[in-house]
Amino acid sequence: MSQLNKIAKNILSNGKGILAADESNGTMTKRLESVNVPSSPENRLLFRETLFSSDGMKDFIGGVILYDETINQVASSKQTIPELISATGAIPGVKVDTGAKVLAGSTEEKITEGLDGLRERLQAYYKLGARFTKWRCVYNISDKFPSKLSINSNAHALARYSALVQECGMVPIVEPEVLMDGGHTAETCFNKTSEVIKRCFEELMIHKIDLSGIILKPNMILAGTTSDEKISSGEVAKLTLKCLKENVPSEVPGIAFLSGGQTEIEATENLNSINKNNDTNFIMTYSYGRALQKSALKFWSKDINNIKGTQKVFNHRANMCTLAAQGKWTVELESQ
Ligand code: 13P
Repeated sequence: MSQLNKIAKNILSNGKGILAADESNGTMTKRLESVNVPSSPENRLLFRETLFSSDGMKDFIGGVILYDETINQVASSKQTIPELISATGAIPGVKVDTGAKVLAGSTEEKITEGLDGLRERLQAYYKLGARFTKWRCVYNISDKFPSKLSINSNAHALARYSALVQECGMVPIVEPEVLMDGGHTAETCFNKTSEVIKRCFEELMIHKIDLSGIILKPNMILAGTTSDEKISSGEVAKLTLKCLKENVPSEVPGIAFLSGGQTEIEATENLNSINKNNDTNFIMTYSYGRALQKSALKFWSKDINNIKGTQKVFNHRANMCTLAAQGKWTVELESQ
């Protein structure tokens, strides 16, 4: 087993998942202001440190994705944030793209940037303790989109990023996110997501990526948020598994879904259904941002010094997601 494969499996095994706490300062500011907490570096650290020092970390969380600000911060215990995370048994990771910008040539779409100077930034993150990284591309669905230009250019960027990350001894999370927004059907989501993922792997192979040392972070196959179509979690699982079976090479050790705007319960129920029906060799787990943190953030905002209470809310959510990653979740467990 290669070292990269070992890291990927350590992050994803035994029902563990990834806590995506890598919101940029802009996004985190929106999240904090939505619950009336001022967005200062201290408050951003306090909320995140509260989660990273929860009891649930050791049983449920295999990896944490950090933002540049957080990976450089020091906890109240005087440990660096990567040290605090490593002490729980989880592996620290970091988002390394610099965001999605307007795509020249198709200006209603986005291209993710951040390749310039990436090799040097990766070396610095490795020294800080990171052993995996994230790069997110976004694609919107409409009659015309995603365009070939967006699919090809983002796949190329993901492959160049992955090559640099593996060269530096870290595991790249490859995240092509086909957004939920729009009135499209689940079938359209299936077709567009399939095209995006297929093209990503073609490009990863051209760039000689060790596929046993990556983690794929895709969206689930869902109907668009404004679509009239309502599909069951069983249907979500069926379409999602079909898409991944058809387009992901078998060397890939694991798939960690994003939540993408689903509620906490939807994201948990759909992941559970995927695992109940998982007839592949891929580990299928979570790499959730909002679907792991929403309730905890709301609770914390009422009293930002109520650390224990906030941790209890977070532990419950992480526990539910880990059960779902093993196909053992039921709705009754939510209220116990
Ligand atoms: P959500 O689970 O909130 O979609 O965030 C996951 C993530 O890391 C998006 O890049």
